[in-house]
Amino acid sequence: MTTPNSTTEPDVVDLLLQQHDQIKSMFAQLQTTTGTAKRDLFDELVRLLAVHESAEESVVHPMAKRELDDGEQVVDQRLAEEDEAKKELAELYDMGVDNPEFDRRLVTFAAAVVEHATHEENEEFLRLRASVDADKLRRMAGALKAAEAAAPTRPHANAPESAAGNLMAAPVLGVFDRARDAVRDWHKKNQD
Ligand SMILES: [Fe+2]
Ligand SMILES: [Fe+2]
Repeated sequence: MTTPNSTTEPDVVDLLLQQHDQIKSMFAQLQTTTGTAKRDLFDELVRLLAVHESAEESVVHPMAKRELDDGEQVVDQRLAEEDEAKKELAELYDMGVDNPEFDRRLVTFAAAVVEHATHEENEEFLRLRASVDADKLRRMAGALKAAEAAAPTRPHANAPESAAGNLMAAPVLGVFDRARDAVRDWHKKNQD
């Protein structure tokens, strides 16, 4: 675990750590839920992962790349894992929570996501707290809030349509794109 942030206002690391806990608990809940509740919970997980990974990808990892001696190497591994996770999440979504294969695939996916999160906590977050100004880390919490405000609550709700009017095959990627665009807009306005 990292050194706690010394003020009451959460910084970006506090929020990312809270989300890691939330993601783990959603994976656990998905194993004991069925039907519509399971579908809703999986939609919530897609949204949370989109918000979380977009802020990491567009703001936190680039900062780690700049600030840490071995940042390049550490971050490249995390980005490769995030890319894989996004593809697997899209496949799970397409498969649907009622598919007999879904639970088995979800367990493997959850293990990979938890391992990824542990690497981030130990190799990035802890070290960013030690090397980046506390005010800057607090301001960066805004990136997560921007993603949170922009990400659609249901993957299908705002999915782009093809010329023929059909929903495109990967609405999950649409949720990630919306969150990423919001973080990038936020970053342009809050560069320092
Ligand atoms: Fe990540
Ligand atoms: Fe993370």
